Amino acid sequence: MVQYHVTLIAGDGIGPEVTEAATRVIEATGVPIVWDPVELNANVIEREKKSLPDAVVDSLLRTRLGLKGPVSTPVAGGYQSVNVALRKRFNLFANFRPVVTIPGIHSRYEDLNLNIAIFRENTEDLYAGLEQEIVPGVVTGIKVITRVASERIARKAFEFAQREGRKKVTAIHKANIMKQADGLFLTCCREVAKEFPAIQYGELIVDNASMQLVMNPGQFDVMILPNLYGDIVSDICAGLVGGLGIVPGANFGENFAIFESVHGSAPDIAGKGIANPTAILQCCVLLLSYIGEREASRRLQRAIAATYKEGKYLTGDVGGTATTSEFTSAIVEAMK
Ligand code: NAI
Repeated sequence: MVQYHVTLIAGDGIGPEVTEAATRVIEATGVPIVWDPVELNANVIEREKKSLPDAVVDSLLRTRLGLKGPVSTPVAGGYQSVNVALRKRFNLFANFRPVVTIPGIHSRYEDLNLNIAIFRENTEDLYAGLEQEIVPGVVTGIKVITRVASERIARKAFEFAQREGRKKVTAIHKANIMKQADGLFLTCCREVAKEFPAIQYGELIVDNASMQLVMNPGQFDVMILPNLYGDIVSDICAGLVGGLGIVPGANFGENFAIFESVHGSAPDIAGKGIANPTAILQCCVLLLSYIGEREASRRLQRAIAATYKEGKYLTGDVGGTATTSEFTSAIVEAMK
């Protein structure tokens, strides 16, 4: 019998609570996923003195597939972000974040049926980690934009648009100021766009794009962004459809894929059993589809939709009073 081996990174904060929900729903699908749980959190990183402990790397090299809860990153100092380290180590160059309205979740735009696909470049830009204090009181941070990385994220976005019958791809930039760096990003997007003449191509400066997202989000279809703008704009987009508890993500490379929510470790609610696991459950929808278990993927997606439509067991962030576990049980029940 086919078995799928998947590295399971619970992370920290609300990570263990939401990944437990994920393993429960995967079990309910009946798809034979064998989890390889590995520890990745502040304690392990402090103990091993590196952002990526060997056990995590070894497991991912074996499975090539991961489901990951959030991991906290210290602010202004401390160790390198685990997420940045993982994306670099496994060359997970494309961060895909589908932002979709789920009926039953109240938001400012609940009538709009939003379906925005975000493709965020995942390996460079200001996240290259090249920072130094050149003289006391002066720190430089280097923004790295390469042709290779810009072309491959643009191609990923256009290939998705073509495959999914989407109409329009918009590149987001600040090339009026960063004429060379964002200029190169745009040049690559324009070149790739020419290979897909059936898909409309547009460009927006990132500050205007942020305003447009708030004023008129229905105009967006597929978006391509360099790393930093992609990070910020995806949180804006999460806010359009009900918040960070909802939106899933996938990090794709040539040979590896790691699925993780857009949200972080949410220390303000960690350990209370009230986190919304929808984002990671939607990661499971993506993961099941990625491994070819399309029917199970659709079944889980329908169960999430039905649970929101019924509206009886919703978590606090979307206006309900259910715990993480009660919401998960409702999903499991809806899958039967
Ligand atoms: P956050 O996403 O953890 O939380 C922001 C707000 O959204 C909080 O009020 C939180 O309670 C709420 N929220 C987030 N996820 C939720 C969920 N599933 N259900 C209900 N409410 C939810 O962002 P924050 O506070 O900026 O970051 C906290 C830590 O997480 C930091 O150390 C940061 O570095 C890390 N982080 C990790 C990520 C990852 O591992 N992929 C991604 C983003 C942040």
